[in-house]
Amino acid sequence: MRIKNFKLEEYFAKYEFNVEYSLCSSDCESFSVDELLTLEKESIDDLKKVWLGYTESTGNPLLREKISQIYSNINPEEVIVFSGAEEAIFVLMNVLLNKDDHLIVQYPAYQSLYEIATAIGCKVTKWLMDEEKHWELNLQFLESSITSSTKCIVVNFPHNPSGFLPTKDFYKKLINIAQEHNIYLLSDEVYKFLEYVKADRLPSACDLYDKSCSIGVMSKSYGLAGLRIGWLATRDKALYKKIASFKNYTTICNSALSEFFAILALRNRNKILKRNLEIINRNLILLDSFFNKYDKIFAWIKPRAGSIAFPRLLIGDTVEDFCLGLLKEKSVLLMPSTNYEYGNRHFRIGFGRKNMPEALQKLEEYLKEQYKEYL
Ligand SMILES: Cc1ncc(COP(=O)(O)O)c(C=O)c1O
Repeated sequence: MRIKNFKLEEYFAKYEFNVEYSLCSSDCESFSVDELLTLEKESIDDLKKVWLGYTESTGNPLLREKISQIYSNINPEEVIVFSGAEEAIFVLMNVLLNKDDHLIVQYPAYQSLYEIATAIGCKVTKWLMDEEKHWELNLQFLESSITSSTKCIVVNFPHNPSGFLPTKDFYKKLINIAQEHNIYLLSDEVYKFLEYVKADRLPSACDLYDKSCSIGVMSKSYGLAGLRIGWLATRDKALYKKIASFKNYTTICNSALSEFFAILALRNRNKILKRNLEIINRNLILLDSFFNKYDKIFAWIKPRAGSIAFPRLLIGDTVEDFCLGLLKEKSVLLMPSTNYEYGNRHFRIGFGRKNMPEALQKLEEYLKEQYKEYL
């Protein structure tokens, strides 16, 4: 397979570990091993007993059971555990898609959601979100783009990078369209459970529609990216079998230690999610007032869920120049939209980390020093 470079991940690899503040990360504040172990009294003793042989290829049965409980209509045998959501997407696309298949992908998007299909030789239609309408998607466009070779629709709610979340009514209609046309639905749900209003939370695609795959991960909402534990849930048994078989060519099985910590975290998921949402809510109040204050410099659409947003730079320079200047002067990292192949005006900002208020202060200093004429 020949595949284009993953721009966003390369940008992180270049800068993330050399800056003081990452103000564009999408994962919530993480935990130390010690913090996770203090969630349960006997956990250190249990940790000592973890056997470090190969593990079950589809995932530790207890972990699959814990994951299946997140859904309302999924059995443990319908869950397969991967090394992050990234491996789940890679394997699914390789199993599902053939050259010349047609795919419709919500856009802008996390690059693997369209690049793997492109590398396989699929035709990809970008389903463009409408910034003027708070990043909404048009279902008529979707329906009119479907052809006899359309194999799959790819969506990501809550959305990376805009924080967009559609209504439940929209989501129902979307699933109906996929169902009517007998098309697969890949639903990337890695930011689920970070809705600011609980009633806005969408059901999972895999609970509603047999030809769908829901993808989840410990990295984002739970803040445990270092575990590299993600999963795919589907009721399509034939597809599941093929996915499980392909995994023997990628990672075979998961890390036993990571599975142990993922089980521990999922047993305490309410506590973890509550802590992360508290950080997000506190940071979002600051961001809202920051962007309202500097509305001559930025266009701000408040997200509805998740730990990231996608403001637009209104003034002169390209967003790449703006971000590189901030990085050089203040050691604060923002993610320019060029890494999403989405023009040179937007940037991703992340607010799931505890130190976001300090990073935002640095950004404000930078504006005061460099963009006085706009203040
Ligand atoms: C929408 C989306 N899907 C998948 C992934 C991959 O997640 P992970 O790094 O945990 O494998 C990311 C990571 O940024 C993402 O934003």
